[in-house]
Amino acid sequence: MTQIALITGANKGIGYATARALGELGMTVLLGARDEGRGVAATRELAGLSARYVALDVTDAASVTAAADWVAAEFGRLDVLVNNAGIVRADGAGLPSATTLPTMREVFETNVYGVVTVTNAFLPLLRLAPAARIVNVSSEVGSISSMTDPASPLFALTSVPYPASKAALNMITAMYAKELRDTPIKVNAANPGYTATDFNSHHGFRTPAQAARVCAHLATLPADGPSGLLWGHLITLDGDQNGVLAW
Ligand SMILES: NC(=O)c1ccc[n+]([C@@H]2O[C@H](COP(=O)([O-])OP(=O)(O)OC[C@H]3O[C@@H](n4cnc5c(N)ncnc54)[C@H](OP(=O)(O)O)[C@@H]3O)[C@@H](O)[C@H]2O)c1
Repeated sequence: MTQIALITGANKGIGYATARALGELGMTVLLGARDEGRGVAATRELAGLSARYVALDVTDAASVTAAADWVAAEFGRLDVLVNNAGIVRADGAGLPSATTLPTMREVFETNVYGVVTVTNAFLPLLRLAPAARIVNVSSEVGSISSMTDPASPLFALTSVPYPASKAALNMITAMYAKELRDTPIKVNAANPGYTATDFNSHHGFRTPAQAARVCAHLATLPADGPSGLLWGHLITLDGDQNGVLAW
């Protein structure tokens, strides 16, 4: 049975690379994108793979409901949900004291509330799959342990909106994993590592393909695999090494 995977924010960057990676594993990939032109163009680039575009703005509840209705009608279930869509904003020099509520709200709308909206809309379809996997694309900057460790390369960062949104996403991941612990569904947070995309004007030192491998690993965990972890690139180790990160 071909697995069905939905990736939000799949028209570029890590989401697109994840769609490609899961498509190359033989899954039918549904590329969620808020802009039809960008979404259709990205889906066309996956020619040769089983790929479909689905209109999906994670901040628009009606758009999310319509996408879930379409997946239900077309496929009747969902095997993999990758909550990838995300934005980054900072105020001023990125100090907590310069943080404004409009910026906080904007970031949380996408990175936090969007994930809850999408996950709850698709959970009935994920429950209909034999062993669904939910991957929340988070970040090491959402790890309070790493951000407060003077020995960590992340210690210099002080911005509030984006790191706080990923810390919230980490808690959301842990709580969904707890609710679903007696089901076959696994819920994990992915740390793709600092990846060269539009997100950071391509300053990241990892490739989208490397980041996508983190998401694909969590999307294909076996039945005895973990749930409720933050897993992915380990910045403290040399090279392309992945593992469990502290929350
Ligand atoms: N790059 C990194 O170093 C890095 C590190 C750790 C974690 N991450 C996380 O990885 C994820 C992907 O980031 P990226 O680096 O690939 O960034 P990106 O290249 O900027 O891609 C972000 C994607 O999210 C989409 N998006 C934004 N708001 C959306 C909304 N309301 N509804 C639907 N889609 C929306 C964007 O669509 P548009 O094209 O329409 O804007 C785009 O497709 C994010 O969650 C980010 O926090 C990135």
